[in-house]
Amino acid sequence: MVISFLWAVVTYVPLLWFMRVTEGMPDPAQRDLLMRQEASRQTGGRVVLTAAEQKLDAYLHRLKEQEMSATPFPPALHFFKAKPLIEKSPVFKLLQKMPKGAALHIHSSSLVSVEWLVKNITYRPNCYICFTWDNSVRFQFSARQPFPRWDCFYWQLLETLRAKIGDPTGFDNSLMQHLTLFTEDPDGQYPSQDVVWGKFEKAFIASAGLVTHAPVLKDYFYKGLEELHRDNILYLELRSGLSRTYELDGTIHDKFWTLKTFQEVTKKFIGDHPDFLGARIIISVHRALSISEVKAAVKEAIQLQKDFPDVVAGFDMVGREDSGKSLWFFREALSLPAELGVRLPYFFHAGETDDEGTDTDQNILDALLFNTTRIGHGYALAHHPLAKELSRKRNVAVELCPISNQVLKLVSDLRNHPATVLMSEGHPMVISADDPSLFGTTGLSYDFYQAFVGIGGLKANLGTLKELAANSITYSSLPAHLKDSGRAMWQKKWDAFISANL
Ligand SMILES: *[C@@H]1O[C@H](CO)[C@@H](O)[C@H](O)[C@H]1NC(C)=O
Ligand SMILES: *[C@@H]1O[C@H](CO)[C@@H](O)[C@H](O)[C@H]1NC(C)=O
Ligand SMILES: [Zn+2]
Repeated sequence: MVISFLWAVVTYVPLLWFMRVTEGMPDPAQRDLLMRQEASRQTGGRVVLTAAEQKLDAYLHRLKEQEMSATPFPPALHFFKAKPLIEKSPVFKLLQKMPKGAALHIHSSSLVSVEWLVKNITYRPNCYICFTWDNSVRFQFSARQPFPRWDCFYWQLLETLRAKIGDPTGFDNSLMQHLTLFTEDPDGQYPSQDVVWGKFEKAFIASAGLVTHAPVLKDYFYKGLEELHRDNILYLELRSGLSRTYELDGTIHDKFWTLKTFQEVTKKFIGDHPDFLGARIIISVHRALSISEVKAAVKEAIQLQKDFPDVVAGFDMVGREDSGKSLWFFREALSLPAELGVRLPYFFHAGETDDEGTDTDQNILDALLFNTTRIGHGYALAHHPLAKELSRKRNVAVELCPISNQVLKLVSDLRNHPATVLMSEGHPMVISADDPSLFGTTGLSYDFYQAFVGIGGLKANLGTLKELAANSITYSSLPAHLKDSGRAMWQKKWDAFISANL
């Protein structure tokens, strides 16, 4: 009896003690496994890195740790304040050199930096300027003084005006201020979404007179491709309304001319830069139009796609979603292609909003019901579980444009961007710039920085970057054989990037 009791104490007490430890403390091996399983779900979580890539990844991780412990942390600041800090960041410098694939969400009105518009285009002969009553500017190229207009009365030849003004640098800077949102004091100047969108539309109208001059548009497209190419991008899908363009003698060109010009400029650019794959257009119309106007635009887009099958990728509706009409409002117009039995791929902006439950918020699901190929922004997607499932199942990628979302005041600290959820789940995604010239960026490196450092945080790694870049080709509108050549071109550049940075 006594012996068996002692035996029990000797055998069970240490066993119980040991079991208490394992019960109370999670099994470290299991913890490790769960952590690895969770990490494998994130964007790039299943990318297998080569030995060389692992080495660069470790280096990148150390850089990122330093960056994240520094104050101030750039993604937490307004981009206009963060920009000079980002430009000093070693992570950013690496991202600039990295082959980023394709830019799939950029608007033609803000493709090229305003510095070039002012320093180059406004110095060309026959450029007139007019100051409007609401403190904006209009430009027009003209052989003689243009007539007064409802919005501004007195046109002056810029060459004459500049000769009168003592401070050309100050004057040029003031012109640039009219064409961009960029400012030293974003919080003071843009207290609300309404104010910042107001300035957005004003800048858009101000640059129109320059960019729609036919000879300028040719140089503008070329320069735009050059800025992207310099940022190691090899392909572009440009959203454009194909505005009418004008010649000095008053001749007006239509959309056909613009597409043909775009095609020719792209061809010339590829001739000059054989490591560039190409560029296509997503025809965009403003959501302020009426149903019948959008119907006409859809029909026209169908025709233009027949005329330019290699250039026209599809169709989108643009303009501020929160103050415009919803996709569902245009359902009659948007069902036309299906009704006619033709295919016009859609690339809808959807869910660029903070307001849950509104029509804008609902655009997300409607975009998917209209078989959208990608979702522009999809800021609201994270809280639409069903739409999120559909988007994932159908491989409908979200075009994440972090800087745009911040400047247009959907989010202030980018660590709180809802795409943190999408990235941690490996949701189909590409990174883009939306309106680079308005935000004071060129290329995609700034947005990649914000997505990689701010939104992705410490766990986003080189695999994440590799997958995001590869995604931009996978989710492009290109036919399969061009995707293959795009991938091959990109892979070659990627391998060179890895070996150059070891
Ligand atoms: C203006 O741009 C054109 C075309 O991009 C270029 O050929 C020209 O040299 C530029 N001129 C100046 C003054 O920068
Ligand atoms: C969307 O795709 C489905 C399945 O292919 C098709 O039945 C439907 O007509 C399409 N809807 C529109 C609006 O194009
Ligand atoms: Zn956009």
